[in-house]
Amino acid sequence: MCGIIGISSNKPVSASIISSLKKLEYRGYDSAGIATLFEGEIKEVKSEGRVNTLEQNFDLKNLKGNIGIGHVRWATHGIPNSVNAHPHSSHNVSVVHNGIIENSTILKKYLTTKGHIFKSQTDTEVIVHLITENLKSNELEEAIKKTLKQLHGSFALGIVFKDIPDLIVGARRGSPLAVGYGPSENYLGSDSYALKSMTNKITYLDDGEFCIIKKDQVLFFNEDGKKINKKILELSSDESSYDKGDFKHFMAKEIEEQPTTVKTGIKEYVDKTNSDINIYNFPWNINEINSITLIGCGTAYHSCLMAKYWFEELTQLDISIDIASEFRYRKNRFKKDTLYIFVSQSGETADTYAALDLCNKNNMKTCAVVNIIESSIARDANFVLPIHCGPEIGVASTKAFLGQILILYILALKLASLRNEINQKIYKEKIKDLQKLPNLIEKSLLIDNDIQAISSTFNEAKGSMFLGRGLSYPIALEGALKLKELSYVHAEGYPAGEMKHGPLALIEDGMPVVVLAPRDSYYKKTISNMQEVIARGAKVLLITNKSKDEIVSENIWETIEVENINDDLLPFLLTIPLQKLAYYSALKKGYDIDKPRNLAKSVTVE
Ligand code: M6R
Repeated sequence: MCGIIGISSNKPVSASIISSLKKLEYRGYDSAGIATLFEGEIKEVKSEGRVNTLEQNFDLKNLKGNIGIGHVRWATHGIPNSVNAHPHSSHNVSVVHNGIIENSTILKKYLTTKGHIFKSQTDTEVIVHLITENLKSNELEEAIKKTLKQLHGSFALGIVFKDIPDLIVGARRGSPLAVGYGPSENYLGSDSYALKSMTNKITYLDDGEFCIIKKDQVLFFNEDGKKINKKILELSSDESSYDKGDFKHFMAKEIEEQPTTVKTGIKEYVDKTNSDINIYNFPWNINEINSITLIGCGTAYHSCLMAKYWFEELTQLDISIDIASEFRYRKNRFKKDTLYIFVSQSGETADTYAALDLCNKNNMKTCAVVNIIESSIARDANFVLPIHCGPEIGVASTKAFLGQILILYILALKLASLRNEINQKIYKEKIKDLQKLPNLIEKSLLIDNDIQAISSTFNEAKGSMFLGRGLSYPIALEGALKLKELSYVHAEGYPAGEMKHGPLALIEDGMPVVVLAPRDSYYKKTISNMQEVIARGAKVLLITNKSKDEIVSENIWETIEVENINDDLLPFLLTIPLQKLAYYSALKKGYDIDKPRNLAKSVTVE
């Protein structure tokens, strides 16, 4: 959830650290800091707020040193201020940390008795003093090995030492960490995105491993301190996808990229000539699978819910879904004939990873639907279905959501076909319809003027509701999540049929309510639910698909009509206005759309 960078070079590193930290800000942005080693001293600068603030507050050009570490923070222990910002340093050790040290209170007590003085409220500071303590009686590698064994919890660490001035130590348990290789310099980073402008040669550390990075050498060790060899991966270097281009925000760009996301997904998985779906190297016999459990967090969980409707519609499989943070601690009945699918854009979400790990430890069949194919979840699942949507930088997930639901729909169709649960003519028709989607999404994107006008009402209201039934229910949840995440207004997603069981009490005069009522099998029921909220004073924004038939209701405040396609695929089109509604609400309020308050893109802590 925080971002880490480290550079060991033959030239000054502060400028490169700053530009990498700017890329890492999607992981956390409440404070930032750098430490460099120069002439036998650790020089540390840090401040509350963004990397820009750090740049404004300090003369970073004069921060000398050919070795350094940097950090952007998403606070866990201690409020976001400059004291709690990383790096944290003792007289001879400086540390940047992503993760949570669960036994920090006990360690702090122990270290205090040894005379260590703590300055911050963070758990990270115990790591600094523990290493300092262990270095008193151990050589470097032994001291690191011992320290890591004493730490409970999760971490990715970057460490520099005043008295060992030519190296950085990196260590990983539970939080991602990568090493990059450059000419006469080497790097440590939370992810390849931060390193990509400097190198395309990367090695990912696995849990329990640590490394020593010098400007001309990188050594890897396992948790017992034994030297190990690791593979170097070559990444594709498409820098343009990391650029906002002419867009004001990454989110705006990512919304507009959705036709391409879907086109790419179709290209990867659909055999247009034979109207078939290709899922290569599926590692299990289809008869071994009788049920599927889908697991994710946030938007990815909404994708799981969406998939449940499709799988149940198209196959006879038993489908369960779960929020990863619940699944990982429940007493699950693991079943050999269940396929566990983990959905995650980043592939690094701590709870989703822990749920996958639990399934792997129980020898279950695991599959990952991810965007980042070098991620921990992608690497540790038995089988991976990439969504291929390119980097998603805006904290609010948009194109990754469409990418995830596309792949899950494709999988549902394929399994239905393999299990002979779908008529082949219908199967092929549905595949043909899929290919119409990119074009229809493009048309659905042309609603900016309408949505801009509507968005003010949502900003001015105390709260709003998003209602849908069937396939539109997950989209209602997703629409509400987008609005609260970006505009900081209360928004609740609900199954429209549940309103009369409690939430109807919230409806009052002028309250904006989004009703998703495509003309599918739920249409009439949803329209009745809509009447019930209108009768109680709600200002209804109806989102439906185009039709010659009139909508049998008066007093609808606004209507948006999306294009027509078969019912299965309408959720793709219904999502677009909701993404734009959230975007324009936040834009009007002047909020930081790509970095909403209190959040981070990749949630690598529990
Ligand atoms: O990287 P993941 O897909 O695992 O992330 C899961 C959630 O944290 C994420 O979808 C979050 O809910 C988004 N910010 C919502 O827009």
